[in-house]
Amino acid sequence: MTDQTMGKSLAQVAKELVAPKKGILAADESTGTMKKRLDAIGVESTPVNRSLWREIMATSAGFDSAISGVILFDETLRNPLPNGQMISDLLKSKNVHPGIKVDKGTIKFNAEEETFTLGLDGLTERLIEYKGLGATFAKWRAVYKVGNSIPSEAAVMSNSIGLAEYALLVQKAGLVPIVEPEVLVLEGDHDISLSRKVTEKVLKDVFYWLEKFGVKLDSMLLKPNMVLPGKKCPTQATAEEIAKETVTVLRATVPSQVPGIVFLSGGLTPDQSTEYLKKMNTMFKDLPWQLSYSFGRALQQEGLQAWGGKKENLKAAQDAFLARAKKVSEARE
Ligand code: 13P
Repeated sequence: MTDQTMGKSLAQVAKELVAPKKGILAADESTGTMKKRLDAIGVESTPVNRSLWREIMATSAGFDSAISGVILFDETLRNPLPNGQMISDLLKSKNVHPGIKVDKGTIKFNAEEETFTLGLDGLTERLIEYKGLGATFAKWRAVYKVGNSIPSEAAVMSNSIGLAEYALLVQKAGLVPIVEPEVLVLEGDHDISLSRKVTEKVLKDVFYWLEKFGVKLDSMLLKPNMVLPGKKCPTQATAEEIAKETVTVLRATVPSQVPGIVFLSGGLTPDQSTEYLKKMNTMFKDLPWQLSYSFGRALQQEGLQAWGGKKENLKAAQDAFLARAKKVSEARE
């Protein structure tokens, strides 16, 4: 399978996204989520401000030494930035891959408020359009809650099949799928061993269905959560334990043909996300896949705070964003 816009195979694009020292910036917050992020720094959520923040990050000098790809939301890929440029042109001029979030959010389906993800209807047509707008990869997120009797079989299976159907359609359209099954490990008082069991069960099922649907494993990336105890668990874990539990689960579930695993930050602080990624890469040297990042909040939080929506803080915002990107990049060594 080939990405005709760049003349590269999908396997090649997947590899580039996890090239040494590089990872992905998740800047695909929906309009609602972006409003929350901007509200938190006292900035009005207008189309210009939502777009300006993405422009600030993407124009920071040296951004491409840590970032291989940026996941975008429809609004940002489709419209020119405040500087008049299309973001996909800006990114491509820096050899950074533009990506696109293509799921349409989740819907609750049972008394436990478990969810499955929407967005398969019309997906192929949207992918063709996004490809024309410059996207080379896509993302779809499934979400699972942790509890004694959840995730249920229905939640696990419906989300796995959704991820597999999505991934297959994305590859057929000539883009690289990022498969994101996010177990909400931080929510609750469970210990790390329940997080491990749930994450393992989910990932096993996801790969079972990816293979059943014939998704090419060398032409996709996995975006999982790290394995952590719930925030309210009285027994918290060390970085070494988190690294060990996470890699143990990945070894048991992720086939070696998958070129890379790009973690989400999931509500961890920028320092925690960076530290845990670094631990995994320093403790385990013999892994078949690259261990990298696709952080949203952990990469953006400090830059957003430094910016505060003020023109005079632009340089401080870019410096704060780049300082974090550099630390995360170093965590891959
Ligand atoms: P966080 O790193 O903030 O969890 O965001 C990653 C993401 O893309 C969630 O879908």
